[in-house]
Amino acid sequence: MKIKSIFYLASLFLLLLGACSSEKESNFSESDINIIPKPNALKLNNGSFTFDAQTQIVIADAAYQELAGVIAEPFKQAAGFDLTVASEKPASNYIVLEIDSQLPAENYNLDVTSDHITLAASDFNGFLYGLETIIQLLPPQINSTSKVSSANWVVPNVSIQDGPQFKWRGLMLDVSRHFFKKEYVLKTIDRLAFHKLNKLHLHLVDDQGWRIEIKKYPKLTEIGAYRVDQEDAAWNARRKPELGEKATFGGFYTQEDIKEIVAYAQTKGVEVIPEIEMPAHVMSAIASYPELSCKGEPIMVPSGGVWPITDIFCPGKETTFEFLENVFDEIIPLFPSQYVHAGGDEATKTNWETCPHCQKRIKEEGLESVEELQSYFMKRMEKYIVSKGKKMIGWDEILEGGLAPEATVMSWRGFEGGWEASEQGHDVIMTPTSYCYFDYYQGPQDSEPEAFNAYLPLSRVYQFNPVLDSMSAEQKKHILGGQANLWSEFIPKSSHSEYMIYPRISALSEALWTNSDKHDWLDFTKRIQTQFERYEYAGINYAKSAYAVMAEDSVNMDDKKIILELKTEIPNTDIRYTLDGSELDENAQKYTSPIVLSETANVKAAAYKDNKVYGAVFQQSYNFHKAFSKQVTYNTEPHKNYTATPYTLVDGINGSLDFHDGKWQGWLRDDMNIVIDLGEATEVSEVNVGSLESQGSGIYFPTGAKAFLSVDGKEYHEVASVENPAQKNPGRSFKNFKLAFDAEQARYVKVIVSNPDQFIFLDEVQVK
Ligand code: ACM
Ligand code: ZN
Repeated sequence: MKIKSIFYLASLFLLLLGACSSEKESNFSESDINIIPKPNALKLNNGSFTFDAQTQIVIADAAYQELAGVIAEPFKQAAGFDLTVASEKPASNYIVLEIDSQLPAENYNLDVTSDHITLAASDFNGFLYGLETIIQLLPPQINSTSKVSSANWVVPNVSIQDGPQFKWRGLMLDVSRHFFKKEYVLKTIDRLAFHKLNKLHLHLVDDQGWRIEIKKYPKLTEIGAYRVDQEDAAWNARRKPELGEKATFGGFYTQEDIKEIVAYAQTKGVEVIPEIEMPAHVMSAIASYPELSCKGEPIMVPSGGVWPITDIFCPGKETTFEFLENVFDEIIPLFPSQYVHAGGDEATKTNWETCPHCQKRIKEEGLESVEELQSYFMKRMEKYIVSKGKKMIGWDEILEGGLAPEATVMSWRGFEGGWEASEQGHDVIMTPTSYCYFDYYQGPQDSEPEAFNAYLPLSRVYQFNPVLDSMSAEQKKHILGGQANLWSEFIPKSSHSEYMIYPRISALSEALWTNSDKHDWLDFTKRIQTQFERYEYAGINYAKSAYAVMAEDSVNMDDKKIILELKTEIPNTDIRYTLDGSELDENAQKYTSPIVLSETANVKAAAYKDNKVYGAVFQQSYNFHKAFSKQVTYNTEPHKNYTATPYTLVDGINGSLDFHDGKWQGWLRDDMNIVIDLGEATEVSEVNVGSLESQGSGIYFPTGAKAFLSVDGKEYHEVASVENPAQKNPGRSFKNFKLAFDAEQARYVKVIVSNPDQFIFLDEVQVK
């Protein structure tokens, strides 16, 4: 009796505890659920399920047992306890994986009750994505890579029916332009699965590095994987290496590394697609085996940008095909994917025009042009690839001169290639630059690391739809999906690679997974905040660019005022600013409407979150100097593409790091020679000329500047000069040329800025 009553009391206590905690934890609302990509159907019910050290993962089918790690690993790391795996259900407190063969591939149904969780799917990826959804129903601490001190491991009771809109949801990593270690690739695979993405396309070959061991051709990695280290210079300003120069910068994956990557990817539902480029983007192969090119001459692996690409494979020689077939003989067994990507983009075929081997081939095969010779090349490779039981993917250039009979087209130069290929009955993967090129800037350039000079913000990625309304039903069936491409010319480090991928990949994942009618940018911007917390816990170097303040500034020359509109990509952000250069703190002013400036201001502005600066600080000075809005006469004309307006140099507004921003005036090879008419005799003592350098874009700092004064506009005398010797500069930067002199009365100021025989970009010319 006594024993019984203790037992009774204890169970009453447990019951109360249970009731108490479930009452507290059942207070979930829709706004607590922040899953990305958004599930296609979700119903929130009362109550919640709590994970603890006794929770079991019940998986009866041996084929799915390794999936337990998807949820057990995060608990082990973040919560510090192990979830045990069982093959039979206990009385309660478990997740059970149940096969429902009626469900389409990759779909899952998730039913969370206070007692247990049921996850149904018909395949590996379906179960995987159900588990990833459970992770995202848990608090963000679950994504922590180390044990967190406190968290409630509770998920709301929900009923979810979910599955992808598109079956190809991918990311391409360019591991050629910069090599990334195996460990980073493995981490990226985890993160693809977290975002419910299922393809990893590895761009293993390009001019600047061959990145996979081929046993039959050891020089591909002995020579082709290394280049002369010129990382201290801008990518597009690197010199051509001398033959025989020491090449030390690079790396490659051994076949064992690849096996490890592929095997790991399989545990995360990710298919790895190798890309072996041809006929262009292969200088690394030609540097290793020069006979592969038309001329057969030795070349070096280039250290940076090459354009146009004329050192390409020779399709006139049988030995080129022998080489490629042998390479594929080693590639194909390494990658279980049904696809291999054979490149096909951006070949400049001038050498084919004059190569006797190529000309002989053209004649013998009855081809009309070098375009048809490329088509011959790709068709022949496809035949080989198909004979090995695989499908070939190629970039959309493979449409030119005739598509290989079964090729899948990766459409990158817009949607047109994909449209055309699908009309011809071919499968298509959409990767148009305008939505999918993650090497583009995602925020205002002044607060971003250097990137390819184009703009792809988060909101634009979110708008990606690989299917066009103008397609027929038949065409639509051929659109497999889409992927993001991360070219790495400007990305030397894995932390930088992360910065470019996250959070844009969240937008991509929702664009490709969630049905179009459920896309809602405003709702996404709310959920992305939780995703940021998860990235934070996971140690991902994600970009907060969507919170960077952008300024639309304009000048009204009539009433001599500058108008400043501030905004962020994420709507309804709390923006605050100062006008006197002071730090952004709790005293900063809240932005509510456009700011009108009528005197010099040093503007700082930023988004605020919880009363603190969040994201990049916008900083710009607006100068109402003595030459502001005065007449400028050009003795040398700026280049026609960079003329801006007659007042650009004296409008009080400085150009940004984006040389395309319309605020710069550019002179190609000419000096700048201008005269500013101050309107009346004015005391002046200083002239400042702002300049931009971006050597990769061919823009260089001036080599010097001189100022001259005149009272009558006829007789000038020099008052100051500065010099600036040229220097290597890998990035983009501003330089101010300050010309100071003893104060003097003058009406006319002449400024001559000398050009190092390149482009010079100038703004603003300030007179004090
Ligand atoms: C490409 O961006 N050249 C496929
Ligand atoms: Zn040739």
